[in-house]
Amino acid sequence: MTIKSIRKVKKLFGKKVLLRTDFDVSIKNNRIKDEYRIVQQLPTIRFLLRHRCKIIIVTHLGRPLEKGKLSARARLRGQADRKIKNKEYFTAKPIAKRLSQLLGRNVRFVKDGVSFKAGTEISRMKNGEIIMLENLRFENGEQKNSRILARNLAKLADIYVNDAFAVSHRAHASVSAIKNYLPSYAGLLLEKEIVNLHKVLNPKKPLVIVIGGAKITTKIPLIKKLHKKAERILIGGALANNFFVARGFKVGKSLVDKQSIKFAKSFLPRWQAGGNKNIILPIDVVISNKESGWRAVVKNVNQVGINDYIFDIGPETVRLYANFIKKAKTIIWNGPMGVFEEEKFKHGTLSIARVIASRSTGSAFGVVGGGETIEALKMTKMIDYVDWVSTGGGAMLAFLGGGKMPGLKGIVK
Ligand code: 3PG
Repeated sequence: MTIKSIRKVKKLFGKKVLLRTDFDVSIKNNRIKDEYRIVQQLPTIRFLLRHRCKIIIVTHLGRPLEKGKLSARARLRGQADRKIKNKEYFTAKPIAKRLSQLLGRNVRFVKDGVSFKAGTEISRMKNGEIIMLENLRFENGEQKNSRILARNLAKLADIYVNDAFAVSHRAHASVSAIKNYLPSYAGLLLEKEIVNLHKVLNPKKPLVIVIGGAKITTKIPLIKKLHKKAERILIGGALANNFFVARGFKVGKSLVDKQSIKFAKSFLPRWQAGGNKNIILPIDVVISNKESGWRAVVKNVNQVGINDYIFDIGPETVRLYANFIKKAKTIIWNGPMGVFEEEKFKHGTLSIARVIASRSTGSAFGVVGGGETIEALKMTKMIDYVDWVSTGGGAMLAFLGGGKMPGLKGIVK
């Protein structure tokens, strides 16, 4: 594998660099709630500054063109209480402000986005200056991978650097089409993401994968691709409910989805034949229901009642999963084990997070990814123990699942 890294560019001094970042972060009342992604991309900016480049930063933020309603992601980020006035709501301005503070130098924000005004401002830039353009997803062509938008973006710079691993699974103009019009390179974070994720594709065995969360669709490719290499795939979160249903257990009022059940059922025949022993389901769960006043109750998986909601994995499951994780030489984790945002239902996720963090760096090579997963890991204050915490949620799953990565085409070979 070769990566066209920005580090290999010979005459970088003073160049105008279009830097595609993924600063798609959670913002509430103009304050950034989680800076992890921003901080991870600072080394590339600093590297370009050392070469006295003129840096034009572009990013997307949320999904402003999904009009009228907030995406599930935005709701999860606690943005639902803000007014949906697209421009104000999804502006990248607070990011430029925070970036200025983090870098200790002015990051000029151009609210017009890809425009004549931006072109004029950029033409006046001095070496070592930084300009940040407005949220790229205000541009109609961005998500359509428009060549016109890509050409207009390309006119602003001499070279293009992709440091936005987290959006590299999208065929969008500033991620994909742009590479037809400018010499293109990988930023330092993108490079690290690829190198580290590549390691788990050729894992030191035993490989243990921990998969949770709600949506199975994005996780199917990963399970399909790696389930033969993995010693164990430990299932948790709402994802497990679909496997329970597929195996004939009751899940009460818990979250399930048809497509996921179908997928889970496709594994059943091999299970029944005893062949699919590496996919492990919880043996006990934490449920709650209205009748009990939403108390947390531990139940065996075959005791779930019709009014119960499954909200976490139970203590026996934590013990079982921890034993598997402790034997691993490579660990991949994506998706929480339950509703960890609630005090009563956080124990499963946080216990698993602690075991993974304590085994990573040393005993095993640990990779963790996904917005909520990182949030949970942070709650344990053990994030620094994990070998690689990917900034990509969907992108990490796509990369590991062998999916298309338009943002890497031409940069990673
Ligand atoms: C992410 O948050 O996973 C990336 O920024 C991609 O965002 P998207 O799913 O809205 O394309």
